[in-house]
Amino acid sequence: MMDKIIVKGGNSLKGEVRISGAKNAALPILISSLLAEGVNTYTNVPDLMDIHSTTMLLAKLGARVDIDGDTVRIDAAGLIEHEAAYDLVRKMRASVLVLGPLVARLGKARVSLPGGCAIGARPINLHLKGLAALGASIELKHGYVEASAGRLKGADIYFDIVTVTGTENLMMAAVTAQGTTVLRNAAREPEVVALADTLVKMGADIEGAGTSIITINGVSSLNPIETAIIPDRIETGTFMMGAILTRGKVTLLDCEPNHLGATINILRRTGADIDTTANAIYVSAKGDVASVDVKTQPYPGFPTDMQAQFMVLMSIAEGTSMISETIFENRYIHVSELIRMGADIKVDGNIAIVKGVPHLSSAQVMATDLRASASLILAGLVAEGTTEVNRVYHLDRGYESIEKKFAGLGAEIQRVR
Ligand code: EPZ
Repeated sequence: MMDKIIVKGGNSLKGEVRISGAKNAALPILISSLLAEGVNTYTNVPDLMDIHSTTMLLAKLGARVDIDGDTVRIDAAGLIEHEAAYDLVRKMRASVLVLGPLVARLGKARVSLPGGCAIGARPINLHLKGLAALGASIELKHGYVEASAGRLKGADIYFDIVTVTGTENLMMAAVTAQGTTVLRNAAREPEVVALADTLVKMGADIEGAGTSIITINGVSSLNPIETAIIPDRIETGTFMMGAILTRGKVTLLDCEPNHLGATINILRRTGADIDTTANAIYVSAKGDVASVDVKTQPYPGFPTDMQAQFMVLMSIAEGTSMISETIFENRYIHVSELIRMGADIKVDGNIAIVKGVPHLSSAQVMATDLRASASLILAGLVAEGTTEVNRVYHLDRGYESIEKKFAGLGAEIQRVR
């Protein structure tokens, strides 16, 4: 049976919450272990379903995995398999990140095509085009990508669309290629920089990560390392919005305020008080929430992964706001559930018009996407009555102990079987 989360609305969040390591940084970094022989040690790894799927995939490929609290050790010396099967890729799209490292290390990879998911079609054509430019031959057979190559050769690659995992996949493919690779219109997300920093520690020669042009000079081999996963900026933003929604007073610890520039800027315009130190954020809110228009963009713009949570905040704001989703074509699956909770939202194409209402009311809800599910928990925190969020599976993919963390801040929330 699937768990559900029960939230009774009305409590102001107060106190301190510790932010976990970033899911979307941990996934490519754990997978980068495939590039070196020897024991890599990763600390501050969050305890999430997607992380378990990743370590399972790595173990299937022949790596030795040892998990000890938030420390994960991976030794890919015994890498023997080159296949990521449908079952795993279907559960977690980020499994396609093994493509680059497997081709780089073994000269071959067979990875199930991920297909669409709740938030859109999500093709991987740019990953494949880039790998082909590096000299891999690519075939699509029976729903799988089959890639093979001798030693990859550096190339000049332009991304038509900014893609986070596409940039990461090609960066991992190029680090041991012969010669120089230039990735243009590369993603600038902090998770891309974290992966580049990890690869550089391993002995790679990479410049420009964090800008839209990344230059990689191939090296002959990489060494195992020890590194810590950066804090999760989306989890951070989710708790900040929870504090503002409930007119609370929350201190977020062990986070990285520098990765949240656009979010902090926009949340300040809702009227919240936000102060930052090197690795903490202090949020407090009183009175009305002002409405603010938001457009999702690649980093350093406002993240698509925070759009659903922000919509909840706007649904109880004074006035009307316009939210534009420019990254994924179908990332409004939370809207119909929020409407069932009393929100006034109209969607036209990729634009949502959110007219603030005085109160949300509780309901039984569910969502088929991680961030949409998080937005329903937030809605439950301010709704009148008791909200039941079903299909908690999606939350467990990306939020560590979400109900315990909210309970620690004074929310009336629990998980039931
Ligand atoms: C990453 O997905 C994140 N996942 C997503 O996190 C996040 O929403 C997304 O980036 C955008 O920030 C991980 O890092 C594991 P993209 P990714 O390729 O890399 C199109 C979460 O909730 N595109 O940057 O798959 C694509 O369809 C999630 O944690 C192509 O057309 O996203 C989309 O419209 C979900 N062809 C746009 O680019 C390609 O080959 C950006 O997607 C690749 C992408």
